[in-house]
Amino acid sequence: MKTLIIYAHPNHRDSRVNRALLDAARELPGVTVHPLYHRYPDGFIDAAHEQALLTEHQLIVLQHPLYWFSCPSLLKEWLDSVLTRGWAYGRGGEALAGKYLVQAISAGGTDDSYRTGGQNGFTVAELLRPFEMTAHLCGLHYLAPFVTHGSRVIDPQALTEQARAYRDHLLALCADPAAHRLDSRETCQ
Ligand SMILES: Cc1cc2nc3c(=O)[nH]c(=O)nc-3n(C[C@H](O)[C@H](O)[C@H](O)COP(=O)(O)O)c2cc1C
Repeated sequence: MKTLIIYAHPNHRDSRVNRALLDAARELPGVTVHPLYHRYPDGFIDAAHEQALLTEHQLIVLQHPLYWFSCPSLLKEWLDSVLTRGWAYGRGGEALAGKYLVQAISAGGTDDSYRTGGQNGFTVAELLRPFEMTAHLCGLHYLAPFVTHGSRVIDPQALTEQARAYRDHLLALCADPAAHRLDSRETCQ
């Protein structure tokens, strides 16, 4: 299954977690890494190019750090400009129908902070509901997110293991994406 990683990190140079995960994922066959902030330093998205990329791939990965309990702004801009009516949704908008979408998220907060009654009040999967609904509207199958918690304090060995787990997870998704649909599992981590 051809996999497209839409990578949105405004400060990749200083990234530890996303850099390690991305380096592990790009070794896999059939994976295209598409770094949005590198491709569009001025913030203007080429929607036709993005739509062509999406058309060529079956598994779409949105990889990004959690920023204000959501995504970095360029990814939001990407959603607004690429998922157009008549292409991604609405009458005749079936270009993405039947494909799979998964988010790979790094969060500064700990696993324990992302729960009901915890410091951040909700699970990461709950906070990502707008993405889940966006996928739903576009006919994409939304898969359980792959979450790296405690991203600012994760030690080098744990990070190496997490990068390996990410690579293995992408392999598993390619083999059997339907097994990872959110309606059959809450979260991966
Ligand atoms: C503007 C900004 C907003 C952030 N918002 C959140 C947040 O809402 N929740 C959270 O857990 N971490 C938040 N963080 C922490 C980032 O998620 C964390 O720095 C990132 O996951 C580290 O990954 P990296 O090593 O790839 O840069 C935020 C960081 C920045 C700079």
